Amino acid sequence: MKNFLIVGGTKGIGRAVVENLSSQGHNVYALARHAPDFALPGVQFRTMDIVSDDMGSLQLPEVLDGMVYCPGTINLKPFKSVSDTQILEEFQVNVLGAVRVLRHTLPFLKNSSFTPGIVLFSTVAVQQGMPFHSSIAMAKGAVEGLTRSLAAELAPRIRVNCIAPSLTDTPLAERLLSSPEKKEGAAGRHPLKKIGNPSEIAALASFLLSEDASWITGQIIHMDGGLSSLRL
Ligand SMILES: NC(=O)c1ccc[n+]([C@@H]2O[C@H](COP(=O)([O-])OP(=O)(O)OC[C@H]3O[C@@H](n4cnc5c(N)ncnc54)[C@H](OP(=O)(O)O)[C@@H]3O)[C@@H](O)[C@H]2O)c1
Repeated sequence: MKNFLIVGGTKGIGRAVVENLSSQGHNVYALARHAPDFALPGVQFRTMDIVSDDMGSLQLPEVLDGMVYCPGTINLKPFKSVSDTQILEEFQVNVLGAVRVLRHTLPFLKNSSFTPGIVLFSTVAVQQGMPFHSSIAMAKGAVEGLTRSLAAELAPRIRVNCIAPSLTDTPLAERLLSSPEKKEGAAGRHPLKKIGNPSEIAALASFLLSEDASWITGQIIHMDGGLSSLRL
């Protein structure tokens, strides 16, 4: 049995990771700004805003065997309408929030007797240029850079990997998937003709946390229905 911290573990992909790890019998600490509307065996919740709250108030066990950072944004706008404020806000949630959690949790991860794993999230829109994605692509580009540099700095003790999904059916993407027509249109734009499923992405995150992934670090893994690399 291991100890995991899932930041953003109450909704979307993070919640699916929490469900996956709980079903494997692990101890899970799930953090978000709001209390969740569900309970699961072995799961404890912490409420905190990772952008603005004092990280020192986050109570965790002495040993962590893995951490997943899920908070993210989707604010799509033409470049001419992207304000400095939007760029800074997206950077805070996607990058600085992760940095703050990493600073706080690295000492606990270093206490693990396994090869602990860190999983961050990017987006398909870094590898594949897409109109109206400049703000999120800049922030997630920084997450990809952080993944590789931190993986190098923390090897061989701690592994750092990143999942880059395409459009996935979560509260974050609700506005883009709010009707059957929108869902069908989004599915049709992917070579595999479907949108992302949070449970499938969570299964990849859980694998990256596990000892079966003990030889994987510094990777950006594209789980995107083929969108970043195929043209049919
Ligand atoms: N869904 C997609 O289509 C898609 C596509 C590409 C990439 N991604 C990336 O995948 C990751 C997961 O996305 P998702 O769709 O599962 O997101 P989501 O549905 O919005 O869930 C985000 C989780 O993070 C928590 N959270 C957000 N801001 C927080 C803060 N400041 N402090 C603490 N917790 C916070 C949320 O709970 P509270 O609101 O209660 O705080 C929630 O539990 C993100 O990094 C996203 O950018 C998603």
